[in-house]
Amino acid sequence: MSVIEIKKNVFSVGAVDWNIRDFHGYSTSLGTTYNSYLIKDEKIALFDTVKRDFKDDLLYHIGQIVDPEKIDYIIVNHVEMDHSGSLPELINIIKPEKLFCSKNGHRALLEHFHQDDWPYEIVKTGDTLNLGSKTVTFIETPMLHWPDSMFSYIAEDKLLISSDAFGQHVASTEKYADELDVCDLMHQAAKYYANILTVFSPNIQRLLVKVAEMGIEIDMIAPDHGVIWRDEKCGEILAAYDHWSRYQSADKVLVIYESMWKSTEKMANAIASELSKGGLEVKMLNLKVNHRSDIMTEVLDAKAMILGSSTLNNNMLPVMADFLTYFKGLRPKNKVMAAFGSYGWSGEAVKHINQAIEGINLPLAHPGVRVKNVPTEENFEECRELARAVVAAVKELE
Ligand code: FEO
Repeated sequence: MSVIEIKKNVFSVGAVDWNIRDFHGYSTSLGTTYNSYLIKDEKIALFDTVKRDFKDDLLYHIGQIVDPEKIDYIIVNHVEMDHSGSLPELINIIKPEKLFCSKNGHRALLEHFHQDDWPYEIVKTGDTLNLGSKTVTFIETPMLHWPDSMFSYIAEDKLLISSDAFGQHVASTEKYADELDVCDLMHQAAKYYANILTVFSPNIQRLLVKVAEMGIEIDMIAPDHGVIWRDEKCGEILAAYDHWSRYQSADKVLVIYESMWKSTEKMANAIASELSKGGLEVKMLNLKVNHRSDIMTEVLDAKAMILGSSTLNNNMLPVMADFLTYFKGLRPKNKVMAAFGSYGWSGEAVKHINQAIEGINLPLAHPGVRVKNVPTEENFEECRELARAVVAAVKELE
């Protein structure tokens, strides 16, 4: 990656990770970036670092602007290791005068690195740091994505350095959102939101209100992953976050399933066919061939999910259990649910899926359809009844 000046004397100096394909269960099929920003003013400040393996890239990029030892301040907007993994080595080289972090960030830094002699400076929302011609205002953003997270806002540049928020896991030589295909990029931004931030949607709603109340002007949003949003793109990503964090959805139903010997798949097909007659967009997502994080991206704006699994050894199939664990952790809301599946002799899968759904506090539109071995026409009609019940429940959501 080359260094670019994103505003006068503000530089993007982070690293591109073209090869990462898994981020804690999230399929990062396009890689990612670990963005870090450098402001060269009367005082020189570095905003976040990079994953430890990319420390040399960061130092090389900083070195094109300034001798790293001349940096005065390091701002830790977020302690997670993709942004602070190289911090100990950077601190040894830079020997910063001050290390700015939130109160929760201070605690997290101590818990991660066990260094109580670093020059911590704890800041809270509204605190400012004067660099000379530019002033940094700190905004705490707890749970976006960890308790320690915060934004750094530079009023003179209308620049919001937003840490994890508004990121995308995209590795690219392009640096700005307007340089990429808008559909591809918004899909990646949605995937990032669905798989990382859905669970924090109430916090995001509160944050958007707080930022609006602060009346700050923004014409550039520089996240710690992916490309930078500038000009009208800032409004587009802010509007998308408002939409997603309100759990707003489309007339879309997902049929998510896995089948051992195709009986459950035949049921899935009957359900999908009937759903489409109800005027809903239907997506069939076989867990064998769709990654859980791609399915979560579809979940983001779906109104209903119908989960199907054959019974294996008195339980649902392992990939369905995997998906339900992942789904539960992200706590989506405002969905209608139902379950189905075939079995050979005992048939517990539907019961266990229903229990999992009830544990997530999502409503069941139907008690579920279980079929012994291969479905008959009578069984297909039960599947169609389930589909009609889901369509009716979706219409009540509207
Ligand atoms: Fe990109 Fe929460 O770290």
